[in-house]
Amino acid sequence: MSDTTQHYPFSVAGKTVLVTGASSDLGRHVAITLARRGACLVITGRNAERLQATYADLPGGGHVQVVADLTQKGDRDRLVQTAGVLNGVVHCAGLKSHCLVHQLDESLMSEMYQVNFLAPVMLTQRLLQADAVVQQGSIVFMLSTAAHVGTRGLGPYSAMKAGLVGMIKCLALEQAERKIRVNGISPSTIVTPMRAMHPGLLEEQKARHPLGLGTPDDVANGVVYMLSDASRWVTGTSLVMDGGAVI
Ligand SMILES: NC(=O)c1ccc[n+]([C@@H]2O[C@H](COP(=O)([O-])OP(=O)(O)OC[C@H]3O[C@@H](n4cnc5c(N)ncnc54)[C@H](OP(=O)(O)O)[C@@H]3O)[C@@H](O)[C@H]2O)c1
Repeated sequence: MSDTTQHYPFSVAGKTVLVTGASSDLGRHVAITLARRGACLVITGRNAERLQATYADLPGGGHVQVVADLTQKGDRDRLVQTAGVLNGVVHCAGLKSHCLVHQLDESLMSEMYQVNFLAPVMLTQRLLQADAVVQQGSIVFMLSTAAHVGTRGLGPYSAMKAGLVGMIKCLALEQAERKIRVNGISPSTIVTPMRAMHPGLLEEQKARHPLGLGTPDDVANGVVYMLSDASRWVTGTSLVMDGGAVI
């Protein structure tokens, strides 16, 4: 028998959520999905024009946009000041680059570290220090299947995402007293309208995925789950979303 007065645990309505990387692709899709489900968004990205395009497509009102380069401490501080009190944080900003380890140079390694690891970790540090995440809030890091399996040419990217897996576990323990949950989502390749793929490569990718390729909606639904009260007992882990590719 259903009880219509019961709270719907998968809801994000009324939650205020910060989404980084909202000026492009997955972050943009996550932000729009959350707004469609009644969340109030604080979105950020570096490119003002593309961030404005996401902002304009957010249904509902009360959303905020902040142009920021998250590798810069001053920009992170300004973002935290503007964001106010948050129920959730989704770290979608990231940079993927292919390079075999023996061809790697220090500047590429440093950039991968700054964007994929330092920026989300230090933004989280600043938010927690400012007490900007409410009790029972949820922090989500967009990882990748590259955090869990090896791929030729993805060493630096893989290492930064795997580093976040370690950080997530420690942070989850540290924040458990406040019932703030900390988790990752690890998608494999997502084909989006913004990410055209060479037909040969597309067929190769399809063949690797027993359930076929995933969509931005699949990832956004995972984010919704991690931000909602339905995942209230889930922390320190990562949700691999890959249509069975890594098994
Ligand atoms: N797409 C996939 O197939 C896939 C699969 C697994 C995991 N992921 C992960 O999902 C996340 C989003 O991927 P995506 O495909 O949407 O990537 P994308 O289209 O390249 O977008 C990357 C986003 O990160 C932002 N960004 C990069 N450097 C930044 C910086 N220094 N400061 C602030 N923002 C910065 C970009 O902002 P601007 O554009 O404004 O510069 C952009 O919004 C990444 O963490 C990626 O590793 C993606």
